Amino acid sequence: MPEPVHPDFDVDDVLRQLTLDEKVALISGSDAWHTAAVPRLSIPRIRLTDGPNGVRGTRFFNGIPAACLPCGTALAATWDPDLVQRGGVLQAHEAIAKGASVILGPTTNMQRSPLGGRGFESFSEDPVLAGEMSAATIRGIQSTGVAATVKHFVCNDQEHERQSVNAVVSERALREIYLLPFQIAQRDSRPDAYMTAYNKVNGTHASQNEELIDGILRKEWGFDGLVMSDWFGLYSTSEAIRAGLDLEMPGPTYIRGTLVKQALGSGRLLEFELDLRVKQVLKLVKKLLPLGIPEGAEEGTVNTPETALELRSVASAGIVLLKNTNSVLPFDKNKSTAVIGPNADFAAYCGGGWASLKAYYAITPLQGVRSKVPDAEYTLGAAGWKKLPLLSRLTKACNGLPGLDMQVFLDPPSVTDREVIDSLYIDTSDIFLADYKHPRITSNLFYLELSGTFTPQETQVYEFSLSVSGSGKLFVDSACVVDNETVQTPGDSFFGSGTVEETGRITLHKGRAYHIELRFGTLPTRTFEVSGANPLGAGGLRAGATPVLDPRTEIEKAVSLARRVDQVILCAGLNGDWESEGYDRSTMALPPGTEELIAAVVAANANTAVVVQSGTPVSMPWLYAVPAVVQAWYGGNETGNAIADVLFGETNPSGKLPLSFPLCEEDTPAFLNFTSERGRTIYGEGVYIGYRFYEKCKRDVAFPFGHGLSYTSFKLDTLALRDAGEYLVLTLYVANTGIVDGAEVVQVYITQHNPSIPRPIKELKGFKKVHVAAGQTVEVTIQILKKYATSFWDEHRHAWVQERGRFTARVGNTSASTPLAADFEVSETTWWNGL
Ligand code: BGC
Repeated sequence: MPEPVHPDFDVDDVLRQLTLDEKVALISGSDAWHTAAVPRLSIPRIRLTDGPNGVRGTRFFNGIPAACLPCGTALAATWDPDLVQRGGVLQAHEAIAKGASVILGPTTNMQRSPLGGRGFESFSEDPVLAGEMSAATIRGIQSTGVAATVKHFVCNDQEHERQSVNAVVSERALREIYLLPFQIAQRDSRPDAYMTAYNKVNGTHASQNEELIDGILRKEWGFDGLVMSDWFGLYSTSEAIRAGLDLEMPGPTYIRGTLVKQALGSGRLLEFELDLRVKQVLKLVKKLLPLGIPEGAEEGTVNTPETALELRSVASAGIVLLKNTNSVLPFDKNKSTAVIGPNADFAAYCGGGWASLKAYYAITPLQGVRSKVPDAEYTLGAAGWKKLPLLSRLTKACNGLPGLDMQVFLDPPSVTDREVIDSLYIDTSDIFLADYKHPRITSNLFYLELSGTFTPQETQVYEFSLSVSGSGKLFVDSACVVDNETVQTPGDSFFGSGTVEETGRITLHKGRAYHIELRFGTLPTRTFEVSGANPLGAGGLRAGATPVLDPRTEIEKAVSLARRVDQVILCAGLNGDWESEGYDRSTMALPPGTEELIAAVVAANANTAVVVQSGTPVSMPWLYAVPAVVQAWYGGNETGNAIADVLFGETNPSGKLPLSFPLCEEDTPAFLNFTSERGRTIYGEGVYIGYRFYEKCKRDVAFPFGHGLSYTSFKLDTLALRDAGEYLVLTLYVANTGIVDGAEVVQVYITQHNPSIPRPIKELKGFKKVHVAAGQTVEVTIQILKKYATSFWDEHRHAWVQERGRFTARVGNTSASTPLAADFEVSETTWWNGL
């Protein structure tokens, strides 16, 4: 092993010593999660890891568990940058435990539509809230010495055709809505790295977009760190290097390497242009050396009581009490309680895709409630799943644990006496082999056999399922129940490289031990081609199983339980199969059957609180009938505890919506322009996204941006505004007029009087969360940079303009109610660029 490089090494000096091959190696990853090393000069490779809601480490397959924070929208719903910053610190400690010095997060894209598959990962429909939450996360991560990577720069706001779609967006909307959160993050937290988006922006892919990377990011905002591509999101060699894209990820390279040398040879690229990129990689390595993380560090965990406490406080602070007629909530622990619904006995702790991770543990709402009300009764009520629940929760492996035994072969099942090259126990039947490694495996073609025992508790018909990126069959006592080998239908599983979920049914008898077997061939055995899908190694499989349910009987059981108890907690919502990277949602509706369940249960017991878990809004046609509704997002490991804390009043809810909850998708600003049409998506709503649209068009929403109730009441009073040159300083008093302690979010919106071009009615420009004890009053001061509060983007001058004239600061606790107002003036029209 070479001596570690001196932490103070001179970057330019090292750059001078590098051979061309070494330079070329440094600007591409060496594998999925590492940069390249230069052993000769003791430059180590550094490890990168996802982000944004936890640190997965380097292994999807049989990975090391991690702390899962609430999803982006849940974090933003806290409106508490200090708390979110602590979440960043927690993530960084997890990264260090996993030997990683770069976190791939936060996600700073915007929610143009509630249907966006990754909306849950992003923070908000408002650029100021999204920017401040991004900055807080980055400050937290980087306070430990770990690097944050703000992503995806820019306009990766939908999943449909995300690598080829051209986001056609006006210069003004790009600046005021989509770039602004990155600009604020840059201004307030100086991220060490940026990740470019997959898509094109106005005709040029973000990863080779000189105007965005070299122009806006580096020259205009003064960013002097590393820009990396999204995974497989680099589409050119010379153009991207010249545009300022430093690091191709993942490795090994597919578009640099020898192509860079060829470009140099042909003069399409000059060596100094290459050097600029190499230098940024070296600078980042140097910056991260003080962390002292050894190369190839073992991956560990930080599963401590402190981690759990921190996760619980972040999760409960983001829960939003949407409705609470007649103070139905909080519920009483001493009353008889029913917990009903598809999300009750299931921990929807994070969304799907690369943001997902194996949590140390995940508390279900039912567990959370039972920790307070041990004899709370439960029934399912309706199946809320998109894909069948995992088979592995029903089967037992040889060691007696829930899960399956997995054997690996180089030969297909047709080869008799084929050799088992690896045997292992796995606790999940959702298996993604992208990073499975074995010394005998030298290609992506190999075979698995997974087996376990299932002993049903009732005699009934069971449904089994199998979706694969590869090919496979599922057998119950040697009868083939699901065949996803001979006939395959392309679907959206495994990031678009897999099939639809195939299902099959069989009657199983109570008490009998059935042998369940899955035979799987890896990705090269797939019988169809998918053009453009990213290389995903050996593919994977997902097997589900559940008793076949009669929807009417389930609802009847729920109704009869609801009638027997004093209070009902109905847990509805989505999960990581409905909301995931890779595809967008097709509707805002809850899963089939849930709306009927809610209607029936509320009719049976009016003392019902509906808890919705989703990362983005769902439609609530049942809202008028339900007295209490709680938006609980995906809350990470402590999901169920945080929900129960709020339901029983141990936490007074203080979350506020970071995005509007429209009545239906047809009402949303991007409704006509969301998916890619022949390769382009027109951002036709311009700057009018979210509440900017609903307010301008006077369109009713189910719940407005910034809305959220409490178990106490607050009064905002006596606003004073001081124009202190660069800053506007607002002061006011917040009184807690109720009998429990609580927290309120003061929101400041700005309106320009008679602007020279149409502007939104008002825009959020500042906010502060304040904790106020019952009966107390606190003085709140909010300071806002005046130029950010007043300016819009002038497309003639390609600059922000702060126009001379009058403005009003409107202050309240939701966008729908801003009772306090104060005017101020801008005395001279000025234009500005930069931060
Ligand atoms: C995602 C990124 C992620 C990367 C690595 C991509 O598919 O878009 O957000 O960081 O994969 O997992």
